[in-house]
Amino acid sequence: MKEVLYGIIGDPIEHSLSPVMHNAAFRHLGMGCIYHAFRVALEDVADAISGAKTLGFGGLNVTVPLKERALEVVNADPLAKEIGAVNTINFKDGINGYNTDGIGAKHALEKHDISVKDKRVLLLGAGGAARAIAFQLAHDGAGLIIANRTAPRAVKLAQDVRSVGDAIGTDMGDLATLVKKVDILINSTSVGMHPDVDKTLVTADMMRNGLVVFDIVYNLIETRLLKEARKAGASTIDGVNMLVHQGAESFRIWTGRDAPIEVMEDAVRCALKR
Ligand code: ATR
Repeated sequence: MKEVLYGIIGDPIEHSLSPVMHNAAFRHLGMGCIYHAFRVALEDVADAISGAKTLGFGGLNVTVPLKERALEVVNADPLAKEIGAVNTINFKDGINGYNTDGIGAKHALEKHDISVKDKRVLLLGAGGAARAIAFQLAHDGAGLIIANRTAPRAVKLAQDVRSVGDAIGTDMGDLATLVKKVDILINSTSVGMHPDVDKTLVTADMMRNGLVVFDIVYNLIETRLLKEARKAGASTIDGVNMLVHQGAESFRIWTGRDAPIEVMEDAVRCALKR
């Protein structure tokens, strides 16, 4: 089989776990492909993408802070356009852009036997990741409360999302009351990320048994939020699930093959332990 190059562009990029994850998948399937991380400045995104195409890359992932800029220089699919960001580029038949963050979140929930249809979901954050998750879950029939530190961003996101489903936007003034209203709590803010590992927006006293708590922060396996959730008897889903499932969807777009999810997850968890 022909060796094909893949990669991720972002800035910073040195801590990305995507190379470990995708190289494990390629190795496992004997595909002989290689995936590498590239630091690219915002002003160089268009050159980097067309350069990768010229060099014969199979595809790219795009991460912070380049996803919105990438949307402008690729042929984006309707969902990526709605979200306003691209995290996956496929070079087969042109330069086509997708966003797999939302589907990654959906599959992470499904893997834990959770369907969002008719569920109330509190989504913390209104940044790039939140936009992708909000559109996907609203498409799938969830009722969303989007709460953000900067309330106008949440209100704007909810307004955009109402073109596909049910959403309201608000501030983070009374998270205790909001948490009581929902079945699923998703943290898509950067709160709790390394090095601020002691931070959480929601504590155990605000949660309960029966609540599902999904934290998309993945640069440590158990965030403070997930520890607090466990204390309260809530079910927890960690951010490795999100990373792996969005990556699996990119893998499927590039190769047309189902990704070896367990292999990818083991590779990421192993790297995180190191
Ligand atoms: P990403 O693309 O990874 O989602 P982002 O677009 O920078 O990153 O969004 C980060 C999110 O985390 C935002 O919702 C941000 O809130 P603001 O819109 O108010 O900036 C949220 N966030 C970051 N630090 C936070 C903090 N200390 N408390 C509450 N929310 C925070």
